[in-house]
Formats: sequence, C-alpha cells, structure tokens
Amino acid sequence: MITAGIDIGSLAAKVAILDTTSMRIIGSACLPTGAAAQQAGLDALQSALQQADIDSGEIAATVATGYGRDILSLADWRVTEISCAARGAHLASSAVRTVIDIGGQDSKVIRVDADGFPVDFALNDRCAAGTGRFMEVMAGALGVTVEDLGELALSATSAAQMTRTCTVFAESEVVSLIARGLPPDEIAAGLCNATAMRVAALTSGLGTEPDVMLIGGVARNEAIAAAIGEALGVQLVVPEQPQIVVATGAAVIAGERRAVAS
Ligand SMILES: Nc1ncnc2c1ncn2[C@@H]1O[C@H](COP(=O)(O)OP(=O)(O)OP(=O)(O)O)[C@@H](O)[C@H]1O
Ligand SMILES: [Mg+2]
Repeated sequence: MITAGIDIGSLAAKVAILDTTSMRIIGSACLPTGAAAQQAGLDALQSALQQADIDSGEIAATVATGYGRDILSLADWRVTEISCAARGAHLASSAVRTVIDIGGQDSKVIRVDADGFPVDFALNDRCAAGTGRFMEVMAGALGVTVEDLGELALSATSAAQMTRTCTVFAESEVVSLIARGLPPDEIAAGLCNATAMRVAALTSGLGTEPDVMLIGGVARNEAIAAAIGEALGVQLVVPEQPQIVVATGAAVIAGERRAVAS
C-alpha cells in the first residue's frame, strides 16, 4: 500500500509518501506554508508525488497533521503532531525513547514507548525563544541565512553570553553586540547555545531516557544539535531528513488506519 502524510506546520508544509510494504519513503517535499496553508500542502503533495513517480490515485490513505491539519479537506484522518512525531521517530529508529521536535513556532519533547506510542510530552508554545522563528529573526539581525547560522557558530572558538531570551530583546542584544565589535561567529554560537539551553531544560523536565532523537527543521542546525547533546549528556540521534519525520509518522498512521478500516 502507498500512503501519504501531510504535516502543515506554522512555517513549512511537509509531505512524505510511504510504501508500507518496504516501510520506505518513496517521495517527500517541503515548502513554505505562507498565508495559503491548504495550497502549500497540496503543492507539497504534488511535488512529493512527482518525486515518487506515482499518481494521486495510487494513494490508499492520507493523514494530515500539524497546526494546519484541519483545513486540509482531502485528508482521510487528522492526527496530532505528538502521535505522528512518535511514530515517525520510531520508524527512523526503534531504540528512540525521547523525541525533541524544534519547529518554527514551538518546541516539543515527547516520551515514546518501545512500540513508538507517546506516553508523555512537554511543550514550549508560549514564546518564540528556542524555536526556528527565533533563529530566523537572529540570523536576520546577523545578516546571514538561517541555514548558514549553524556553520558560522561551529567555526567560533568562544561563544557570546546571551542574557536575553525574549525575541525582541535578544534581537536588540545582537545588534548591540555587533556594534561593540563582537565577531559574528561568537554571536551565532551564543544564539545557538541559548536555544539549546531552553530546549535542554524542557527535555530535562520530562526526563531524558535514551535514545534521544532530534527532529524538526531546526535539527538541521548542527551547532544547536551539538549543544543540546552536550547539555543533556547524551549522544543525540539526528535522522537524515529531520524535517519530514512528523509527516512520515502521519503516513505510517495512515497505513495502520487503512488496514484496520478495510
Ligand atoms: N538548514 C537549516 N538550518 C537551520 N534551520 C533550518 C534549516 N532548514 C530549516 N530550518 C528552520 O526550521 C524551521 C521550520 O521547521 P519545521 O518545518 O519543523 O517547523 P514547522 O513544522 O513549520 O513549525 P511548528 O511545528 O512549530 O508548527 C524554520 O524556522 C527554519 O528556519
Ligand atoms: Mg512542526
């Protein structure tokens, strides 16, 4: 059976097409959500179908997840990101017991059982600190792209101490550090550490049972991944495509539900 998982996040719409016989992803896509969330989901689906070289009629079941899941009318089922993240992480590695998802708008920590079902979770959805959006604003203040920020941070020999976590104040702090002549790589390292510390505190509050997997778009920032691993004292697992893990979990659940329904 071929299934689709569609994760409409606050910043990016992701699609994973799964072959449930081999349990392999045969197509995926990631596009900015923008103002037209449903259209972004449909465009990402089209792009993933093209990559998989299949027609939409070959999709046996679709699960939508993410903050925009309710507006996607073509979905057979809608499932929370917590369940999808747990199933997707379990498919990537069955040894995972703690999943950290750093997205654009919030960060989540999920405790997962040996079968890949969520048993507990913690959310930071009150403020942008420790999220992708925070890193985007700070990258803008530093004049680099968010994709380059991690590499810049890794090249630093020491890290600036960031005292502000609120996005607005942290942005002014970055501007004043630049004005004082602090090198951009040290500021980048300070920003990555600040985000990592917030996420590590959220994780420690829930308990850090290994293996610990880092997912979401921000997992692509290697400096943040390294700093979280160091703060928690664990070797973090980062899958090859961390941003599509939740969509992958949605595709896994689509297969399970279709099998039960038919
Ligand atoms: N190569 C990269 N390096 C660093 N950050 C990246 C990279 N690619 C994407 N990101 C960041 O990932 C974030 C988006 O991640 P993701 O797609 O997981 O969020 P989302 O699912 O839309 O958000 P949420 O789950 O909070 O609704 C963006 O803030 C973006 O800046
Ligand atoms: Mg997300």
